[in-house]
Amino acid sequence: MSLFVIGDTHLSFGVKKPMDIFAGWENHTGLLKHAWLEAVQPEDTIVLAGDISWGMSLDEALPDFQWLNELPGKEKIILKGNHDYWWVTMKKMQEYFAAHQLDTLRILHNNCYAYGEYGICGTRGWVNMEPGEEAADDAKVSAREAQRLDVSLNAAEQQGLRPLVFLHYPPVYGASCNFPMLEVLWKHRITDCWYGHVHGRSQHRYAVNGVRDDVNYHLIAGDYVQFIPQKIM
Ligand SMILES: [Fe+2]
Ligand SMILES: [Fe+2]
Repeated sequence: MSLFVIGDTHLSFGVKKPMDIFAGWENHTGLLKHAWLEAVQPEDTIVLAGDISWGMSLDEALPDFQWLNELPGKEKIILKGNHDYWWVTMKKMQEYFAAHQLDTLRILHNNCYAYGEYGICGTRGWVNMEPGEEAADDAKVSAREAQRLDVSLNAAEQQGLRPLVFLHYPPVYGASCNFPMLEVLWKHRITDCWYGHVHGRSQHRYAVNGVRDDVNYHLIAGDYVQFIPQKIM
């Protein structure tokens, strides 16, 4: 039994949104499928850290969900990215998944999933703000995301699980930070955090990979990891 992670699958089997036009994204679903089949076994768990599908609705995203559901893995734990416009309420998504026999897909949102002694926790997160420059809307969204992360981590801790954190947005990037998110990571003494969202070589170089202020960060955006699901344990 193994745990994997990858972010930013950016699937578009149900809509016209070719990714091949972006450098580093040529045949990315072919690469992902090949690497996934090589690495992931039926009993494994994989976290998909946001920007799952370009579909604008659940119906438009359905071919992408079906593609993911058919790949190996007992549980595919999905969190929201900034491009997941199909995302609706937990209840609606779960009903939709059940109605379409998407039996391996799980939604990570104000909750956690047990993986052995670990708790898989996370939320989308939000953009980083320069001190003194934050707009009121950004501050509100950050506070809400920080609260969601706190709820998710509390859920793990209440079950005696050791939390692992998965986010879409990086809470640290270059010299910028999202302090509300960081405060939650520090409060819960989180040691490891995986995140996506950062694309392209010119952006990857500012990404934090390694320990900063006691948290070990890992960028796992699809293009950064050459669409190879990353084994955590
Ligand atoms: Fe993305
Ligand atoms: Fe993103």
